[in-house]
Amino acid sequence: MKSPALFEDLNILVTGAGKGLGRAVVEELLARRDRFPRIKIALSARSESDLNGLAELARGSGVETLILPGDLAQDPVAGVRRIQKAWGRIDVLIHSAGVGRFGDFGTYTPDDVEFVIRTNVDSTFLLLQETFNLMKNQTPQAGLRGQIQVITSVAAEKPFEHSALYCMSKYAQRGLLEVMRIPAAKEKIRILDVRSGAALTPMWGAVEPGMEARMMKPSDVAGAMVDALLLNARATIETLTIRPVGGDI
Ligand SMILES: NC(=O)c1ccc[n+]([C@@H]2O[C@H](COP(=O)([O-])OP(=O)(O)OC[C@H]3O[C@@H](n4cnc5c(N)ncnc54)[C@H](OP(=O)(O)O)[C@@H]3O)[C@@H](O)[C@H]2O)c1
Repeated sequence: MKSPALFEDLNILVTGAGKGLGRAVVEELLARRDRFPRIKIALSARSESDLNGLAELARGSGVETLILPGDLAQDPVAGVRRIQKAWGRIDVLIHSAGVGRFGDFGTYTPDDVEFVIRTNVDSTFLLLQETFNLMKNQTPQAGLRGQIQVITSVAAEKPFEHSALYCMSKYAQRGLLEVMRIPAAKEKIRILDVRSGAALTPMWGAVEPGMEARMMKPSDVAGAMVDALLLNARATIETLTIRPVGGDI
């Protein structure tokens, strides 16, 4: 028997919605309209053209959207404030926007450090803080004030060669989520740390065909994230580690 839609009226902000894992989450939500009958989706990324195409797809299936083009590294909170003005509340934040620069330790420049840390660490901190402050003042829906899912990485729990800067930024995201869970539990806000392994997205650039076959598809990660959104409000999944069945790449 089909279980009832628990969280029907959801205003959802997806960062990094233009490509890769963020886009796959939006597509997954649209594919499961029976479980999410009355959602609104705000789409955030730098490339407006990516967001326009996705918004058209969403509108085609009857979903109201808000397009929030912009660089989170420049202004991490503008999108949250626009949603608050337009829709009043945010029920779900899916934070997928993130970047990486990779290389031998010893070769990173100050620009590399600034680029990765500003987006993955500074903006994540300020975006999550702004969202938490909005969510904690919301009336609970079906027992929850909000849900926050952040795609960190398996690089938030395990060292990878050529990934010193990326790993540092992902461990930092994990640290923030672990501390945030303390006040979030009191406010009935669920925090999910999505520790994803390799999924074939534009972040990887061109990959060898042999390697492609060893990677997950973005929909594998997105499907598990959307399942977690639907968990009864009594419970919370704190960490979702998902990797290719053959192991990390
Ligand atoms: N793919 C994997 O194997 C994998 C594994 C583990 C963890 N992750 C993490 O998952 C997240 C998503 O990765 P992905 O593979 O989907 O990457 P992706 O294909 O490169 O897509 C990233 C998305 O984030 C947006 N974005 C990046 N920096 C931004 C900024 N400063 N402001 C606003 N938007 C920004 C991009 O927008 P524009 O293109 O318009 O700039 C794009 O829409 C990242 O945090 C990544 O570290 C990925």
